[in-house]
Amino acid sequence: MGRPLRDLRISVTDRCNFRCTYCMPKEHFDSNYNFLPKSQIISYEEIILIVKSMLPLGLSKVRITGGEPLLRKDICSLISMIRNLDENLDIAMTTNGVLLKNNIQSLKESGLDRVTVSLDAIDNDLFQEITDSKFEVSQVIEGIKSAIDCGLEVKINSVIKRNKNESEINKLIETSIEYNIPVRFIEFMDVGTTNSWELDSVFTGEEIRNIIQKQFGPLTKTKPNYYGEVAKQWKMARHDLDIGFIESISSPFCGTCTRARISSNGKLFTCLFSEQGFDLLSLIRMEADEQDLSQVISDIWNKRKDRYSEKRKDSTKISNPVEMSYIGG
Ligand code: GTP
Ligand code: 5AD
Ligand code: SF4
Ligand code: SF4
Repeated sequence: MGRPLRDLRISVTDRCNFRCTYCMPKEHFDSNYNFLPKSQIISYEEIILIVKSMLPLGLSKVRITGGEPLLRKDICSLISMIRNLDENLDIAMTTNGVLLKNNIQSLKESGLDRVTVSLDAIDNDLFQEITDSKFEVSQVIEGIKSAIDCGLEVKINSVIKRNKNESEINKLIETSIEYNIPVRFIEFMDVGTTNSWELDSVFTGEEIRNIIQKQFGPLTKTKPNYYGEVAKQWKMARHDLDIGFIESISSPFCGTCTRARISSNGKLFTCLFSEQGFDLLSLIRMEADEQDLSQVISDIWNKRKDRYSEKRKDSTKISNPVEMSYIGG
């Protein structure tokens, strides 16, 4: 389909200290769950080999995700290693934010450019219910503040589910106005097999905009910041504020999908909804070098036909898509 490869999302761990009900529900992700053993987790050196092999293919952005990436030991050294490969590469991290404040100085020093913090509720009780944890929302807010103070570019990502957290939409906007950082609202997606997704629980981007406009006045659609941007950009007339909408259900964006993903056990996925990935880690452990990897990755990329979100409407049901915590968001 001629989509360029621009973006690599690396899941550095399948573990998380939250149990968000839409991502890692406790009933499934409990003490019996088989998280990946250390021997199967891709090492930093192995990640670097993949990143190096993708630079000649057009890679311009790397996002570190998880699970929760700040749980991975010495994550800053991975970021430094990536930064040393290319000073112009855009390096971002997606995190739940509770460990951010303690790590922010080293993250900045290692060369991280941007951080996106997941935050679905401002009300503490609701925050604890959604994350199924005892963390306080104030810890996440402290994380956000520390990242801004450190000079990183910060965004907030919020998944909105019907009958769960619509009440938080305008509070999240207020938070984004207070700190002058963009918020992006994400439609609840049918990724994985454990989150009891149903179409009725999707609160669409349009519904979210209606709620915002009632309190904050008109929103106008603006141009994407770059080719293939996942979030559709809207602007609030009253405040000079960008608001993004990631409408994978109501308005899919497969036509410009530039993202490759590496799971925490080193498999290459060309779609968030794939059932299987290509085992790059085994190739690396069988001594594949940078050129071998470049060749394999470009072959896989050039043949990819996936456009799951666009086909969803034709009720093409994938039986076993991988979990979000394993593949990264
Ligand atoms: P920026 O570089 O800041 O624009 O970030 P981004 O939008 O590329 O990445 P981010 O991690 O913030 O993505 C936000 C969310 O959008 C993810 O957590 C996913 O839920 C969703 N998302 C990202 N990429 C895709 C994709 O290719 N397909 C689908 N269906 N959803 C995606
Ligand atoms: N639907 C939409 N977004 C999801 N995320 C995790 N699971 C889902 C889902 N089922 C989001 C998180 C975080 C990012 C990594 O992915 O909230 O912002
Ligand atoms: Fe952890 Fe993020 Fe999944 Fe929540 S959405 S359980 S914070 S990986
Ligand atoms: Fe890309 Fe798959 Fe998402 Fe479509 S559904 S945008 S192909 S990752």
